[in-house]
Amino acid sequence: MRTQVCIIGGGPSGLILSQLLHKAGIDTVVLERRTRDYVLSRIRAGVLEFGAVNMLRKAGVGARMDREGFVHDGVYLAAQNRGFRIDFKRLVGKQVMVYGQTEVTQDLYAARDAMGGVVIHQAEGVTPHDLKTDAPFVTYHRDGAEHRIDCDYVIGCDGFHGVSRTCIPASVLNTYERVYPFGWLGVLSQTPPVSDELIYANHERGFALCSMRNENLSRYYLQVPVDDPIEKWTDAAFWDELRRRIPEDAAGRIVTGAAIEKSIAPLRSFVAEPMRWGRLFLVGDAAHIVPPTGAKGLNLAMSDVHYLYEALLSRYNDRDEAALDGYSACALARIWKSTRFSWWMTTTLHRFPDQAGFDQRIQETELAYLESSDIAQAALAENYVGLPY
Ligand code: APR
Ligand code: PHB
Repeated sequence: MRTQVCIIGGGPSGLILSQLLHKAGIDTVVLERRTRDYVLSRIRAGVLEFGAVNMLRKAGVGARMDREGFVHDGVYLAAQNRGFRIDFKRLVGKQVMVYGQTEVTQDLYAARDAMGGVVIHQAEGVTPHDLKTDAPFVTYHRDGAEHRIDCDYVIGCDGFHGVSRTCIPASVLNTYERVYPFGWLGVLSQTPPVSDELIYANHERGFALCSMRNENLSRYYLQVPVDDPIEKWTDAAFWDELRRRIPEDAAGRIVTGAAIEKSIAPLRSFVAEPMRWGRLFLVGDAAHIVPPTGAKGLNLAMSDVHYLYEALLSRYNDRDEAALDGYSACALARIWKSTRFSWWMTTTLHRFPDQAGFDQRIQETELAYLESSDIAQAALAENYVGLPY
């Protein structure tokens, strides 16, 4: 088989890049190692920057999001049982969309099907070859046979544990990492959200986040030791702890219910440079991971896709490779700004095991300064709604 762009990974990055390129008349094939059901079973974050919202609309995938998503004008930050609101719309004139990543992925798959997009599932042993030549190809196994796809470019949209980043020689690849000494216990419950907007709470017992998917589907997170056994967190234990960490007025409104999904995830910041090796380009989690505190994971993947899509368009329509040559530096400039913001939100809102009294006071002062200063709030707002592409 031959295609112009071979994309490894059928998550959000790979699907939207394939959709945009297909709409621009550029041939793609997506190789996904899992089944579609498996990919769609993943519960991920739920906040879209305005840039990501525009990307989905541009890809022709925004209709259900615009119907069922929730536009939020701000968020609440809380500490010491007091909360205050950051009004994005007033401060920076922009908003965010609350719409689950699972829904985004479902909509992308539906759009790919509608256009006859080629997404090959259960592709095993995907291996890129000859990346430093002008005739790269990718091999994979499926149905007991080996297959080969010849292409112009290979795009690694295969996430943190994918194969593509490993194709960049260790002598060339630089990685930067911060592993946080705690995890997030996430719970999905068919209960009405406790607030009309998200609540990020700093508390001496640990961080808590109140989010939602719709008027009867709530998403909550608690900072817990990353090695906590999930069995320790019965529904009752979870609801009791959540009540302790958020302001009393919100705690009094909580409607409890059975968790329909419960898991503990580690938190890390990770960036790999460069995001190109010959005809291979990295996109999304294949190149970077952010702690979910800033809700940047999917949104950073979207800006990577934006830069690479525009660069591939220049290459195929104008035979101009300048943007491809500049992709890595351009994407990394925005990636590092979002990495900084996600790190800052995480270090400001979480309790660290070795946290001394001084650190605690600095956190409290950071939040007090935010509460008192429109300028400080505007800086948070412009990062949260998404820096310009
Ligand atoms: N061959 C083929 N497919 C692979 C391989 C491989 N060797 N390795 C991983 N994959 C697939 C995974 O099964 C997954 O479906 O690549 C896809 C990568 O998707 P994500 O991990 O979702 O990464 P990305 O598309 O960049 O999306 C980033 O989505 O998962 C969240 O936290 C993530 O919010 C971030 C956003
Ligand atoms: C979510 O709704 O899953 C969510 C929202 C905001 C975050 C992280 C997760 O920062």
